[in-house]
Amino acid sequence: MSFSQTLARRDGALFIEDVPVRDLAEAHGTPLYVYSRAGLLERASRLLAAFGPDNLVAYSIKSNMNLAVVRTFVDAGCGVDVTSRGELERALRARADPRKIVYSGAGKRPDEIDRGLEAGLRMFNVESLDELAMIDARARAAGVVAPISFRLNPDVDARTHPKIATGLRTVKFGVPIEEAPAAYAHAKTLSNVEVVGVDCHIGSQLLSLEPMRDALLKLKTAVLSLRQAGHEIRLIDIGGGLGVEYQDGDVPPTPEEYADMALEVVGGLGAALVCEPGRSLTAGAGYLVSRVLYQKQNEQKSFVILDAGMNDYVRPAMYGSPVRVETESTRASAPVDLVGPVCESTDRFAEGYALPEVSNGDLVVFRDVGAYGFCMASTYNGRPLPAEVMVHGSRVERVRRRQSVEETWTGELQPQWDDEPTADDR
Ligand code: LLP
Repeated sequence: MSFSQTLARRDGALFIEDVPVRDLAEAHGTPLYVYSRAGLLERASRLLAAFGPDNLVAYSIKSNMNLAVVRTFVDAGCGVDVTSRGELERALRARADPRKIVYSGAGKRPDEIDRGLEAGLRMFNVESLDELAMIDARARAAGVVAPISFRLNPDVDARTHPKIATGLRTVKFGVPIEEAPAAYAHAKTLSNVEVVGVDCHIGSQLLSLEPMRDALLKLKTAVLSLRQAGHEIRLIDIGGGLGVEYQDGDVPPTPEEYADMALEVVGGLGAALVCEPGRSLTAGAGYLVSRVLYQKQNEQKSFVILDAGMNDYVRPAMYGSPVRVETESTRASAPVDLVGPVCESTDRFAEGYALPEVSNGDLVVFRDVGAYGFCMASTYNGRPLPAEVMVHGSRVERVRRRQSVEETWTGELQPQWDDEPTADDR
C-alpha cells in the first residue's frame, strides 16, 4: 500500500494538505521547505505498527533534524538514532526518551561519548576496537558502564548509489563480521562496557529487500554464535536504509514488507529489534517550494532558472538523484534543464525535464525532499538558509525562520591586527 498524497491539485491550484502552496510562498517566501505533518505521521505510524510495541523504531535524525519534525516522531512513539553531540542534543530537546536513543557513527569524540553516557542512552553502536577502548575509558572516568553493540560489517552489496553504500569492506564502516567473536570477547574483558546487542547498516535508499535479508541472515548467524560464546544479545539493530520512490517506476518495499522481512529473519531470537529509518519517514512528506526567476534558450538547450539552488537541495548535484516537480500550469512544453542560481554547472536539478510551460514568477514544487534536504543545505554563494514550515490540515506553523543575510556571517570575526574591525559581534 502506497502512502496518501499530501500534495494535491484542486481546481488547478496546488495544495499541501489543506493549504494552497501559493499562500505558503506568499507568506513565507521562497525557497521554502514545507513538511506535511500528516505525511510524517502516516509513515511513522505504519512503521511503528509493523514492528510492534516490543521493538524500537529509532528515527535517524540525520535525514531531517528540524526540532518540530523530530518532536512529531518522538510524540508518535519513536526513539532516535543519533551520530553526533549535535544530533543527541536535538533529540533530547525534542524530548526523546534517552532510553530510546542509540548512538551510531564511526568517529565519536571523547566529549561526545561523555555526553551520551551522561544522558543514559540505550546503546552505543561501536565501530572499531579503538573506539571501544575510548568508550570504556570515558565510562570508567564517569563511574558508569556503557551499553554497547558492535556495528558488524557483513560485506554485502546494498545495490544502491556507491556514495551511500556502507556494507562493503571498501568503506570505513563497522567491524568485519568475521571478527565479531574476537571483538566481543575483548569487550567482555573490559570493566566499563556491557555488551547488549549487535548492529548492522548496509546503506541507504535500498529499493530491494534482498541485500538487507542477506545481511540480516549473516547477523543472525553471528548472534547465535555470540550467544554460544556466552554473550547476552538483547538488542538487534538492523540499521536504516529503506528506500523511497524518487521517480516513476521506483517501487520501494512498504514499511510492512520491510518489517515482516526483518521479523522473519531476526525476530524469533528473543531479542528486541531496533531499526533506524531516516529517509523513509521524511522524504515523501517534504516539499521545496521555489519560483521561476528567468528562462533562456541557446541553440542546444532551454534553461529554467529557479530561485532554489544546489545549496538548498544538494542531492541531484551530489548523488545525481532524480527530482520530480509540480507546477500549477499543466500545458505541455519542450524539455528544459531545471537549474538554480549557484555559480556552478552542477547546480542543475534535472536535464531535459518535461516541465510544463511556465512563466517567470511561477511556483515549482519539488516532491520527496523531506530527507537529506534542509539538513544538507548550506550558505554557499552567500545564500541564506531557507525557511521551513509544517502544515497540519489547514494550519501552518513556521518551524524555522528564514536566515537573514547578516546571519550568514554570524560568528565570523575580523583579525585583531586589522586597523578597523568591521565585524560587530566581537
Ligand atoms: N543508520 C545509520 C547507521 C546510517 O548511517 C544511516 C544513514 C541511517 C541509519 C539512515 O538511513 P536511511 O533510512 O535514511 O536510509 N545524504 C545521503 C544519505 C546518507 C545516509 C547516511 N546514513 C542522501 O542524501 O542520499
